[in-house]
Amino acid sequence: MQWWNNAVGYEVYIRSFADSDGDGVGDFGGLTERLDHLAWLGVDAVWVTPFYPSPQADFGYDVADYRDVDPVYGDMEDFRRFATRARDLGLKVMIDLVPNHTSSEHPWFRSALADPDSPERGYYIFRPPGPDGGPPNNWLSHFGGPAWTLDPASGEYYCHLFHRMQPDLDWSNPAVRREFEEIVEFWTELGVDGFRIDVAHALTKDHDLRDNPQILPLASDATPNQAFSAFEHVHDLGLDSSREIFEAWKSLPGGSDTLLVGEVYLVDVDRSTSYMGDGGLDLCLFFGLNRRPWDPVGFVDELRDWAEASKRGFAWTIASHDENRPPTRFGGGEAGRRRALSIWTLFCSLPGMPFVYQGEELGLEDGSVEPEHVQDPVGKAAYHEGRDPARTPMPWDTGPDNGFTTGAPWLTSGTRAPAETVQHQKEHPDSHLWLFRDLLATRKRLAPIRTGPGRWLPAPPGVAVVLSGEVLTVANLTDDPGGVVLPPGDWSPEFDTARGDNPVASGRIEVPPTSARVYVAAPSPL
Ligand code: GLC
Repeated sequence: MQWWNNAVGYEVYIRSFADSDGDGVGDFGGLTERLDHLAWLGVDAVWVTPFYPSPQADFGYDVADYRDVDPVYGDMEDFRRFATRARDLGLKVMIDLVPNHTSSEHPWFRSALADPDSPERGYYIFRPPGPDGGPPNNWLSHFGGPAWTLDPASGEYYCHLFHRMQPDLDWSNPAVRREFEEIVEFWTELGVDGFRIDVAHALTKDHDLRDNPQILPLASDATPNQAFSAFEHVHDLGLDSSREIFEAWKSLPGGSDTLLVGEVYLVDVDRSTSYMGDGGLDLCLFFGLNRRPWDPVGFVDELRDWAEASKRGFAWTIASHDENRPPTRFGGGEAGRRRALSIWTLFCSLPGMPFVYQGEELGLEDGSVEPEHVQDPVGKAAYHEGRDPARTPMPWDTGPDNGFTTGAPWLTSGTRAPAETVQHQKEHPDSHLWLFRDLLATRKRLAPIRTGPGRWLPAPPGVAVVLSGEVLTVANLTDDPGGVVLPPGDWSPEFDTARGDNPVASGRIEVPPTSARVYVAAPSPL
C-alpha cells in the first residue's frame, strides 16, 4: 500500500505561512516552528509551494534555479531541518515542481537570449512572427495579453502561457526531459516524498502551434479570465502526450513510492482521468467546484461524476492559493463555512487524497487587500480576478500582524478578528478548527473499514449518500431538509458537521439543511 492511500495533505503557501526573521515574508524557519500545528490537526503530508531562487514575478512560480532555496525563504540547511522535523512528526514532504516554464532569469533562458545558436535556445519555444508581423499564433497568456513576447535581438517571439517573465519550456526537446529527470532525482535523494506538478496539463503543446478555435466573442475590455475562456484550448492545454513525461518520472529510482500529484487544470473528468494510473500521475488535483457559484445540485452531480470516473479518486480540493476562499465563494459567513465543511465531509468519504489549504481548517474567508496593496500579477491586470485575498498571512494569534511576522508583511491586509486565529480557535473546542480536526480524525479512524471506490446511492437533488465499505456518508448541500433512505441495517453516528447528538439510525432519516454526517454499520444485534 502506498503512503498516500487514505492520506490528507496540507498546502503551505510559504510566503504567507510564518516568518521567522522579521523580513515580512514567510520562510522555512517559520514553517518548521509551526509544523506541530499540522501534526496536531492530523494531516499526513505537507506540500510547500515554490521556494526556489526566483525574481518573484509570480511569487516563486518563476524558478531561476531548481536546486536551491531562495534566500528570502532560507537556505538548503533550513530545508533539511524542515524536512527532518516533518519526518519526526510523521509528516511526508511534498514540494512544488514547476516544469512548464522557468523564470526569464534562469541561466537557460539567459543563454537562449544571449545566443540564438546555443543549445538552451532549443529549451524554449521561439518562433518567427506570424504573417502579419505579430505573434506566431492566437494563444493567450493566463495573466492577460498574448502568450508571446518579442525578443528584439533576434526578431523572434517566445511563448509564455503565464507571465512574460515565465517563458515556456519546449517539452518536445529530449534535453529538457533529461534536465527535469535529474531535478526530480535531486529532490527525491534529499528525501522528498512527493511532488505537486504545476500546470501539468500544459507541458506538451501542439507540434505545429496551431491557433486555438475561438468559441465566444472577445470584448476589447475583457479581463484575462474572460479572454482566456473565449477560446477552446485544444492546442495549448490538455494534450495526451504530457502523460509520457510523468511515466518517465514514475520509473526513476524510488518513483513508485514518490507521489506525483498533477495540477491538471482541465475541468473535464475524462481528460483528467487519462493522465492517472498505469505508471502515470498518481493523482490529479480536482478543480470541479472551484470556478463556479454555489450550486448544491450541480455540485453534488459534479462530485459524483468525478468520483465515479476514477477508482483511485483525486487530490480533492476546494481551496488553494489561486482561488477565493471557499466560505467566501459559497456565500460567506457561517453558511459559507458549513457548506465548505459539508463538501469536505464528502471528500473524506472518498478514495484519493484531500488537500487542506492553510487557513481552511479555520474556516477563513478571503482576506481584504486594498487595490493599492495588490501584489499578484493577475490582480494587477484585473483587481477582481486577483489571487491576493487567498494569500494573506496565516492568522496565528491576536498579536501584531496576527503573529505572522514581527516586521511589515509582504502583503498588506486587514487584521483578522480574534475568532479567526489559530490561538483562539484552539482554546475553543466549539470552533471550526476542532470540528475540522474531528473530521480528519474520523477519516483516519474509519480508513480500515472505508473500502472500495464508494457507491453513490439514490438521493434527492443536492443530497449525496455514499457507501464505502462499512462507512456511510450523507451530505445535504441544499437549504431544505433532505430525506434519504439508508441501506438496510443500523447505522451508528461517527461525525456530524452540525455537532448533533444523533441516535443510531435506520430506514429513512432527515438530513438537516447544509450539513453532513458520517455513520458506520452497527454490529447486528445477534
Ligand atoms: C499554477 C499555480 C499558480 C501559478 C501558475 C503559473 O496555476 O498554482 O499560482 O501562477 O501555475 O506557474
